[in-house]
Amino acid sequence: MKKLLTFLLALTLLFSLFACNSTGEEDGQENGDSNQNGETAQTSGDLSRIDKIKQEGTLRIGTSADYPPYEFHTEIDGVDTIVGFDIALCQYIADDLGVELEITDMSFDSLLISLQQDKFDIVAAGMSPDEERLKAADFTDKIFESEQSIILRKADVALYPTTAELAGASIGVQKGTIQEGIAEGITDKVVKLTKLSELITELKTGKVDAVCIDYPCATAYVSGNDDLIVSDIEIEYEGPGTCLAVQKGETEWVEYLNGIIQTVNEDGTMDQFIAEASMLADASLE
Ligand code: ARG
Repeated sequence: MKKLLTFLLALTLLFSLFACNSTGEEDGQENGDSNQNGETAQTSGDLSRIDKIKQEGTLRIGTSADYPPYEFHTEIDGVDTIVGFDIALCQYIADDLGVELEITDMSFDSLLISLQQDKFDIVAAGMSPDEERLKAADFTDKIFESEQSIILRKADVALYPTTAELAGASIGVQKGTIQEGIAEGITDKVVKLTKLSELITELKTGKVDAVCIDYPCATAYVSGNDDLIVSDIEIEYEGPGTCLAVQKGETEWVEYLNGIIQTVNEDGTMDQFIAEASMLADASLE
């Protein structure tokens, strides 16, 4: 009798052990974040960002590919492709890690929320850190620095020699960008749209009087639109430059990325990425 009891007990133990193990494994493989009890699955929860990326074989980045030469769509061999110097840098990072690059293209103002939901490992979107964004994400060292600029209709250049004359005018900006604040400092008529291409159309059709964007992007859009011009209007703005954004508290990941940024800056690779992206941008918007 005693023997039978011991045997049954051992059997029950074995079953419960087996049941626990299989739940853990399934969760680890399928979603990697939590099991039925809401606990973090050991398999991925304890892995560093770099190990996780390597394990999954994919570097997931989020962008808003409407910002030439930073990130934009172009046709390569008849195939719609997302290119740009931010993208070239991320491809370099993916190659360094020995993984595939997976790009998600979405509206600029949804990027940081999606990053917080762990939809990507990096946001690469010509994004500059500011006080508000630093609450939601951590940022790498600077990748690129640019001036701010105003695009006008060529016919209107004489009307707006400085920001003072733009005071009553309507200025279009991309929703969620730092240009919102810059434009609000110039006029009280700020039009915020999600898509930059729509802003350019609004400007061409007279629905807004000006568009405020980063200088390299302004020159790219103007090169494809004869009726538009990048004005000489000077905008006072001291920014920290554009960086990659990662989830808050990922110190090791930021350090690794900063190491890459330092390398590509020192060996001229970044300059090459910028030159290539600018050439592609001019060609694709002409
Ligand atoms: N540099 C500006 C910012 O940090 C605009 C970036 C827009 N980027 C884009 N991919 N559309 O807010």
